[in-house]
Amino acid sequence: MLYDLSLSADYMKFLKVERARAEKARVLVVRLNLLDSSRPVQHSRSYVYFPISIMGAKAKKAFDRMGAQVVSRWEAKKGEKPSYREQLGKILTKREFSQLARGYDQIGDIVIIEFTGSRSKEKEIAQILIDSNISIKTVLAKAGAVRGKYRVRKLRYVAGVRNFIATCRENGCTFRFDTRKVFFSNRLSYERSRILGLVKDRENVMVMFAGIGPFAIEIAKANRHSNIVAVELNRFGYKYMLENVKLNKVDNVKPVLGDVKKVSGKYRNFADRIIMPLPMSSMSFLDEAYKVAKKKAIVHLYAFADKPDTVKDAVRMHAKEKGYGVRFLEWREVRPYSTTDSEYAVDYQILK
Ligand SMILES: C[S@@+](CC[C@H](N)C(=O)[O-])C[C@H]1O[C@@H](n2cnc3c(N)ncnc32)[C@H](O)[C@@H]1O
Repeated sequence: MLYDLSLSADYMKFLKVERARAEKARVLVVRLNLLDSSRPVQHSRSYVYFPISIMGAKAKKAFDRMGAQVVSRWEAKKGEKPSYREQLGKILTKREFSQLARGYDQIGDIVIIEFTGSRSKEKEIAQILIDSNISIKTVLAKAGAVRGKYRVRKLRYVAGVRNFIATCRENGCTFRFDTRKVFFSNRLSYERSRILGLVKDRENVMVMFAGIGPFAIEIAKANRHSNIVAVELNRFGYKYMLENVKLNKVDNVKPVLGDVKKVSGKYRNFADRIIMPLPMSSMSFLDEAYKVAKKKAIVHLYAFADKPDTVKDAVRMHAKEKGYGVRFLEWREVRPYSTTDSEYAVDYQILK
């Protein structure tokens, strides 16, 4: 059987082999008369790619034995360097491309992709990303939805350096954490900078659902006379928050390991500002917000809803039941969540 290696104009066949076995592979392809010497050999961080022409079953066996693989790879025409978009466009359908674009997150040198096509295509995507962007060292794939009380997502290693620990910069701070064990999304970086712009120095701030500490640490760094209490239930989130407090040299954040429901009693009338970034269930912590709030505290509430008025109505009703007043300040759509719902940020003032 002859393997079909018919080529498109610029997407060519190569024998991909680990650098350590490259010399052996070169000798083999020359001996088998398969090396296409009119085309250049390509290199990536870990592999060498020998341009090859048609091959038979005998060659396939020899390649398998060596752990070498025949792959399609972009071959630039002289002087032309195709962008990763062009390369992806060659192997993905429009639908696959837009799925990839929607689900793509880069956190430090780790890229997390969402792709429901074949695993071999996923690997090709990952290799294109790594080869075309020097800042990408690892590609992971989302292997499920964000779930559970810790809001964590399963991730699968795809390509590059096998690493799950991310280090990234956001709003002038550095964060380090295990992508498998805690929640972190840099899609919320604008929201964090928005809140950062509202905080005044010397305010007392309660960050509920603090995760690895981005809200708390960014506020603390910019407001050295503020006191920030940051409560997190996931012990991994808490552990990384402690580490990130040190990493960013802030001494005005108090990380607390525990459930907001239980911890809030210790901080009665503490807060000028309360941040509640748990959109799935923050509405069931409104009592706790009242508990920790000073007389005219400001609340930043995050919730999934069909429209902001749904969130506002629920807050208004709850306040009425408890005998407090509320004054709504602002709202913003943070991101779409499903076909019907979005995550909304609703800012309001408590009037005790
Ligand atoms: C959506 S994440 C937000 C994390 C962080 N604020 C951020 O912006 O990256 C919500 C966090 O709340 C934590 N959490 C959930 N229920 C909690 C509770 N009852 N008390 C304290 N933390 C809780 C989860 O473990 C998770 O880290």
